[in-house]
Amino acid sequence: MNVFLYGPPGSGKSTLGRMLAARLGRPLVDVDAVVAARSGKSIAQVFREDGEPAFRRIEADVCRETAGKDGLVVALGAGALMDRATRAAVERRHLVVSLDARPETLLARLNGKSERPLLNKKPLEEALRLLLQERAGVYGSFTVRVGTDDGLGRAAENVASLLEKRVLQSSNPRIGHAIHLGYGLLEELLPLLEGLGLRQPFWLVTDENVARALEPGLPHDLPRIVVPPGERSKNLRQVGVICERLVDGGMDRSGTIVAVGGGVVSDLAGFAAATFMRGVRWAAVPTTLLAMIDASIGGKTGVDLQAGKNMIGAFHPPELIVADPLALGTLPEVERVSGMAEVVKHAIIGNTRLFERLEQQHVFGSLDDLENAMRVKTAIVDSDPFDRGEREVLNLGHTVGHAVESASGYSIRHGEAVSIGLVAEAIIAEEVGVAGTGLADRLSRLLASLGLPTSHQTASPERLRRALWADKKKTGKRLRFVLPSEVGRVLRGVEVPDEVLDGAIARLCG
Ligand SMILES: NC(=O)c1ccc[n+]([C@@H]2O[C@H](COP(=O)([O-])OP(=O)(O)OC[C@H]3O[C@@H](n4cnc5c(N)ncnc54)[C@H](O)[C@@H]3O)[C@@H](O)[C@H]2O)c1
Ligand SMILES: [Zn+2]
Repeated sequence: MNVFLYGPPGSGKSTLGRMLAARLGRPLVDVDAVVAARSGKSIAQVFREDGEPAFRRIEADVCRETAGKDGLVVALGAGALMDRATRAAVERRHLVVSLDARPETLLARLNGKSERPLLNKKPLEEALRLLLQERAGVYGSFTVRVGTDDGLGRAAENVASLLEKRVLQSSNPRIGHAIHLGYGLLEELLPLLEGLGLRQPFWLVTDENVARALEPGLPHDLPRIVVPPGERSKNLRQVGVICERLVDGGMDRSGTIVAVGGGVVSDLAGFAAATFMRGVRWAAVPTTLLAMIDASIGGKTGVDLQAGKNMIGAFHPPELIVADPLALGTLPEVERVSGMAEVVKHAIIGNTRLFERLEQQHVFGSLDDLENAMRVKTAIVDSDPFDRGEREVLNLGHTVGHAVESASGYSIRHGEAVSIGLVAEAIIAEEVGVAGTGLADRLSRLLASLGLPTSHQTASPERLRRALWADKKKTGKRLRFVLPSEVGRVLRGVEVPDEVLDGAIARLCG
């Protein structure tokens, strides 16, 4: 993995690049310098004599070449990742850090420097303002952003800290797993597995989309079972397919299953691991946001029956979870947004600061964010490994959410249904007096700002009502809910009167 430094002119890419390279003991590639060397003239000359398109072509070549290498610090030109194909080639396997700074800081750094072909045509301040305006969407679109207003030395430290690996060790031996979180960990998968004492053969289980998307980063020499993508693969037939392949491949009880994919793959491969020869060891490599912060953690594995989701399963925790945020780079936007509903759920259950940060910035994806969301789940599963009490809080948003999914004939994404469920359950919480007025609106605003739905206008209230009553958490004549009392605190086992439920459903369906 390389570290690519990107950002507007004056954000300090080259200087910070030199500092970082020295600090990490890695070679530095300054893309502008390579372009200049390759064309035998200064960048300003290339622009003047050959034109910007010629410059961009050489720049794109250099970017792709460096993306094919490893262990470098790369300082990019300020326009290098405007091109989608170049950006995709770089982001596929490498950490891209977008350097931010206030316009005044950028101006101060740029003053007195002449080699800025795109900023030379107008007074500097005006030219910079226009360029920032034009490129705001691009510079603001990177999840990993580091501010440089407090100096490039400090920023270099912050970038270096992104390369440190974090380990979250479960405190309950019944769960026992270690979560390794860090950029580029996918490249270290084999040493990580072996370091934990997991034994060969390592059998990769993944799905077709993930195999295609992450191909350059997956170990090539491991035996691999690839299932069709999506919930339709989470069934006993696929468990059979996996187990037959393991037998044919000579797998015995000492080997290890390595599930690389979203929650479908981890539930399915984890269940195969729980049952193949009465149980083999396994590791999870989550590649969706949902799997990273939720599905891979806590040891619930299972498959669906015609009669319903997750009807067959086992508690069988993976021993190792390898979470590499770079794996999320190829995740379709709709899946990322859908996963955000579970992030918000975790924040409401147990991390007020995460919730407030999302409200202020609407971006998620830093190592701190991921760790915070993971910690909510790990703390709960450690306190209740077999789902006998406390773990029920993770159902927040899901009682109504599952009903929405079912009433829509599963045409709506799980995360979208959970988002609607979170709002509905906050409305119910206000109605029964568990939460103060305003919580549902606040939640609704946040979810909407993240691109998630907060109502279900097209649903029939009657179907939703029926689906809710079919929910298994019905006791006696009333449904029991997990309800938010405020951000960061939830109550479980709250009985809700029918008329309150009906009112919430009516509001939900508009
Ligand atoms: N065991 C648990 O505790 C638990 C908790 C929550 C959810 N789950 C289960 O998780 C499942 C949902 O998981 P999900 O949302 O991750 O769905 P998923 O596994 O179906 O993945 C979503 C889609 O993204 C694709 N994909 C995955 N990673 C990708 C990547 N890096 N690049 C490109 N495409 C990629 C997949 O092929 C799939 O098409 C459900 O079955 C749910 O029941 C389990
Ligand atoms: Zn869920």
